[in-house]
Amino acid sequence: MGGHLPSHIAVIMDGNGRWAEGRGLPRTEGHRAGAEAVRRVITGCRAAGIRHVTLYAFSSENWGRPRKEIRHLFSLLKEFLGKEIPLMEGKGIALNVLGDTTALPPGARAAVTRGIRRTSGGKGMTLNLALNYGARAELVRAARSFVSEGASPGDVTEQSLAGRLDTAGQPDPDLLIRTGGECRLSNFLLYQCAYAELYFTPVLWPDFREEHLHAALEDYAARSRRFGRI
Ligand code: IPE
Ligand code: IPE
Ligand code: MG
Repeated sequence: MGGHLPSHIAVIMDGNGRWAEGRGLPRTEGHRAGAEAVRRVITGCRAAGIRHVTLYAFSSENWGRPRKEIRHLFSLLKEFLGKEIPLMEGKGIALNVLGDTTALPPGARAAVTRGIRRTSGGKGMTLNLALNYGARAELVRAARSFVSEGASPGDVTEQSLAGRLDTAGQPDPDLLIRTGGECRLSNFLLYQCAYAELYFTPVLWPDFREEHLHAALEDYAARSRRFGRI
């Protein structure tokens, strides 16, 4: 694949529920199939040489779903991390989390903390899992950190604000992919995606394969990013 490769890809993994409903299955089966797509995309991104990947796994608004579905999602997360962390360690992938993990079920939270610790030496790729993530809540946390440090107006710059976001130290996403056919951001990385190239596909997340990733990368490579210039 020629052209430019994004340094950072962010993905809104949407369509699990519809994938299951279309097959007469419970939504939970869609999430299980979605976890397989996560595995494929992590592998595909690592193989393509992408350095930062961010996956929107659970939004701060997803707490509004039925309790049973939420429980299932976090139990899938634990199962997923149990299998994937050793593989990620082997592939040099460092796990990181975006969002407020204090509200996660304790078992899922512990699995995330363990996973971050075990993969912290990974130098090949950073995998950010957005869990209980909402961009507005993230910005509020950043604003509060300025206040609690007694910052003065001049201390607040684009750089110091970015340094207080959950993505601190990482480049902004170059490419944002949303599967499932909806064309919206759903409170994802509102600050960081200021200049991201947006790619919407009707493919439901459990159907997303490496060929779809490559199609998105090719689309990205053909775009002209101007950042306000001519
Ligand atoms: C995305 O799939 C997964 C999460 C939000 C956790 P959905 O569960 O939103 O699937 P649809 O959009 O209802 O099809
Ligand atoms: C966005 O999908 C959140 C995740 C993929 C985790 P949603 O299904 O929650 O978004 P809306 O409700 O369609 O905006
Ligand atoms: Mg959805």
